[in-house]
Amino acid sequence: MDVIALDDPTDARIRQWHDVLMAVHTADSPGDPAPEPEQTAERLLGGFGSRQRLWGIEGEDAGLVAVAALRLPGEAGAVRPAEIDIRVRPEYRRRGLGRRLMAAAANGLRADGRTSVIAQVLAGTPAVPFLESHGFECVLTLRGMLLDLADLPPGLVARLLAEAPAGYRLVRWSGVVPDEHASALARVKTAMADLAEYEGTPWDADRVREMAELVAKRGDDLYTVAVLDGDAIAGFTEVVVPLGAAGRAAQYDTAVAPEHRGRRLGILVKAAMLRWLAEERPDVREIETDNVGDNTPMLAVNEELGFRVERESREYQAAVSALP
Ligand SMILES: CC(C)(COP(=O)(O)OP(=O)(O)OC[C@H]1O[C@@H](n2cnc3c(N)ncnc32)[C@H](O)[C@@H]1OP(=O)(O)O)[C@@H](O)C(=O)NCCC(=O)NCCS
Repeated sequence: MDVIALDDPTDARIRQWHDVLMAVHTADSPGDPAPEPEQTAERLLGGFGSRQRLWGIEGEDAGLVAVAALRLPGEAGAVRPAEIDIRVRPEYRRRGLGRRLMAAAANGLRADGRTSVIAQVLAGTPAVPFLESHGFECVLTLRGMLLDLADLPPGLVARLLAEAPAGYRLVRWSGVVPDEHASALARVKTAMADLAEYEGTPWDADRVREMAELVAKRGDDLYTVAVLDGDAIAGFTEVVVPLGAAGRAAQYDTAVAPEHRGRRLGILVKAAMLRWLAEERPDVREIETDNVGDNTPMLAVNEELGFRVERESREYQAAVSALP
């Protein structure tokens, strides 16, 4: 069972890849919405806007039974971590296929001059011992929460909007940030870094646009609500409605700049988002969000809005030099 490079996948390979994702989804996270075939094709062909490398392993019938995608954001040699995603059909696990794909990815990382790689996994799944056996360490714990919009207490959104502190102005946009707000958004996104022990790469206006373009390329819709203090963004929140999401939207970043904290701006932008979605996207029935494990203020905001904890996911990171 050799590892094969799949950098220009055929339609048949894309279908087989999707079958692997479906089998893994059923085994590891049946409660989540299933991946859509179009999303898989878009990801494999478009790379979500980043360079990527793809590998697979065939079973007895020459169909794929294990796959690996390595996303390489930025230029070769970039400091930003690459992202690895390995998936093995449940009936083919514990035979060393995951390990072989990780070795192929390690070569790909070295060939691209990378120094670090991250992976997002669910706590309590085989991914945890698998990554730990390859020198990965947990750098971030995220608590997955879900808000069923039907459970929102009546009048809550209107009350929160009415309590907006004086001197601030709400603005909103869909898709890529308008030029007038791009640098201000990058500044407040960088301010989010102090919420996590794990220091991310600083944001600039180009990276902010790149993230929005990536969402659009996948066919998903990005909605942003921000609260302004003059021209500066004091706080913002982002929600993505994925293509074929069957009613479930995903909360992306929410942040309030340090000098504006303690004025309930976080809950204000989230309340404004809920009102906008109700008008603009009545198809959205629930919103899922990940909270950094120790981010007490954001957990409190989400609990006040009625979000319930559903699962824990983790971000693992390894130095490429530590990989086999
Ligand atoms: C995680 C995953 C890729 C592992 O694939 P795999 O082919 O079973 O892994 P391997 O057989 O190569 O295992 C390599 C080592 O990882 C560890 N490991 C893997 N699965 C394990 C499990 N269920 N329990 C304990 N250790 C495990 C072991 O140390 C194993 O070595 P050993 O079998 O000699 O003891 C697979 O379980 C999977 O597809 N999970 C769902 C998708 C996912 O979460 N991917 C992770 C994102 S990178």
